This record gives sequence, structure tokens and C-alpha cells, in this order.
Amino acid sequence: MTKKIAVLPGDGIGQEIVAEAVKVIEALKTHGLDVEMEQGLVGGTAYDETGSPLPTETLKLTKESDAILLGAVGGYKWESLDIAVRPEKGLLGLRAELDLFANLRPAILYPQLANASSLKPKIVSGLDIMIVRELTGGIYFGEPRGVRILENGERQGYNTLVYKESEVKRIAEVAFDIARKRDSRVCSVDKANVLEVTEMWRDVVNELHEDNKDIELSHMYVDNAAMQLVRAPKQFDVMVTTNMFGDILSDCAAMLTGSIGMLPSASLNAKGQGMYEPIHGSAPDIAGQNIANPLATILSVAMMLRYSLDESAMADRIEKAVDKVLDQKLRTADIYSDGMKQVSTSEMGDAVVAAL
Ligand code: IPM
Ligand code: MG
Repeated sequence: MTKKIAVLPGDGIGQEIVAEAVKVIEALKTHGLDVEMEQGLVGGTAYDETGSPLPTETLKLTKESDAILLGAVGGYKWESLDIAVRPEKGLLGLRAELDLFANLRPAILYPQLANASSLKPKIVSGLDIMIVRELTGGIYFGEPRGVRILENGERQGYNTLVYKESEVKRIAEVAFDIARKRDSRVCSVDKANVLEVTEMWRDVVNELHEDNKDIELSHMYVDNAAMQLVRAPKQFDVMVTTNMFGDILSDCAAMLTGSIGMLPSASLNAKGQGMYEPIHGSAPDIAGQNIANPLATILSVAMMLRYSLDESAMADRIEKAVDKVLDQKLRTADIYSDGMKQVSTSEMGDAVVAAL
């Protein structure tokens, strides 16, 4: 049966990079991939047209789809809007409405890009970490939240960090399952020395580990984890952590690989439905210039084929094509170094299509 992909380019470079990923999907269709695509609005672009960063029509489209391909949301233009209608709310709304609680963020170093990392090649060569970030709970969604006026007239901002046992258990289960297909090691990251909620997080992970003894489990405080990521990142296989810690650590891990422009992500719900997006943002400073790196989005399509569309051979094909264009020394500006051939966003997309 034809599978349906909702395509949501969003804002900034989202438009350009998603166009390249769509080219790749179109090319795979001529090789037998049975999918249909439908475009929708999200983020600031959606706000401008409809007054909402997540229009009802888009939500309906995503709910009916097997998978969602998203570019990026946000930009200077919308920064002063009320927080309830900011572009980011479109993304957070999709995560919440579709219950996409499991965010997989691989940080893989391509050998061809070892010199693009700010760390020494010997520290990062062969790097292959999977960060499993809880995505629909924690301080991002906890209530109460807001800004209130105290009796002395001073403003006080507040957010709430909450996790239910069931939320911790389901994300830890995902981490154990993924580790089993890799090097069978999970490091759970928390702040159990200070925050009760993450002390409970640690207890729940330990309890679940009783039924997953084939996996080696360790725990680490988040401050140490940030340090270890830049000191000796290869010690990690799978890291599992809360929504906010995962947000921060995944940017840090991304940079180890040289460019945040290379890294895809998947956000999955219990039904295997998923949203796929590059982990970089909308980069308004370079939007519209045809210089952004489309590879993270193209690699997000590979994750989509593997995790939501049951087409792992097609996924392999994309990943091999990306490897090939890197071997051909083609580089967008963000990963360019001496001796390489600098190409534009669309030239990179065309090269991947040619290498399929
Ligand atoms: C991410 C982004 C988002 C987040 C923003 C855009 C809301 O930084 O996906 O990592 O904080 O989750
Ligand atoms: Mg982030």
C-alpha cells in the first residue's frame, strides 16, 4: 500500500533543504519506492498565512500520514511574538499531539569529515553515539509555568520539571532496545544529586534494567556528561536523558562530528509513526542563499525509511550515496576545508540523487 509522507518545510533554510530531500524521495520513487507526499505549513510561515504556527489542516495531515518530514522552524522575524504563537510552538505542538516521545539523535563522524571537528581526530574518529532524548515531557511541558508578579511587585518566572514513572519507563525501554542492536551499552544522564525528579528517573531506569541485564547500564550526572562528551566521547554508545538535558547534550554531540549540518533525527511514538528532521535549526542568517547543507535532511529521509516505512534497503541506498558524495570531495560551506570542492545546497542534492 502507498505510504503517505507529510512534508513540512517550515522556516528559513527549511525550505531549501527539504526541497533537496524531496528530490531524493522522487528519485527513489522511480526506483520503486511506493510513497506519496503532501506539503503542509508549520512554524512562522504558517503563522504568517493562517495566524497559527500549527494550523488544524497541518495537524490533520500529519495524523493521517505514516511519517512526517520537517525542515526547521523559527526566525528573527517572529521572535517578538507571544510565546503561544511562536514558530517553536508548531514543533512542540506536533511532538505533543502525535505523542512523539522518543527522539533519536545519532552523532556519527564520517571519516571524510574528521578534520571538520573542533576536536582532535584521535578523540573523535569512529565516533558513533545515539542520544535518546525524552521529547514530550519534563520541563518543556510541565505545569504550572509562566511569569507572575510577586507581592513586592517583582516578576518571577517559573517552569516545572515533572516526570511520571511511566514516561521514564517507556523512554528507557526504547534506549535498551536500541542499545541491543548496537554495542549494548546505555548511559542514563540525570542530575540525581540535586533534583528529586531525576533521582526517581534513575530508580526507574535501574528497575527496568532488572529485565534487561544483557545491556550494560551506567548513570552519569549531566554536568559530567557534558564534560565527558568533549573529553572522551567514544566511551558512549547509547545515552538516554530528559527533554532539556537531551536538547543541550545533542547540540554538543553534534559539534563533535564537525557539522551540525550532517545530523538527522527521528521522533517516534508508540505506533511507529515518526517525524524526521535535521537537528540544526532554521539558520535565518543564511536562508535563501542556496548555501545550507541539505545532508542532515536527506539523512533524515533515510531514518524515515528505516524506522517508519520499513524500507531499510532504500535507507542504505541514501546513506551510501551520501558517503559517495563525501568521497567525491563535495562539500557545502559548513563542512568545507582546503582541497575540497565547494557546492551549493541544490548541487549537493543533485549529487546525492546522481549517486543513488
Ligand atoms: C531541538 C530544538 C527545539 C527544542 C526548539 C526549536 C523548540 O532546539 O529540536 O533541539 O528545544 O527541542
Ligand atoms: Mg535543540
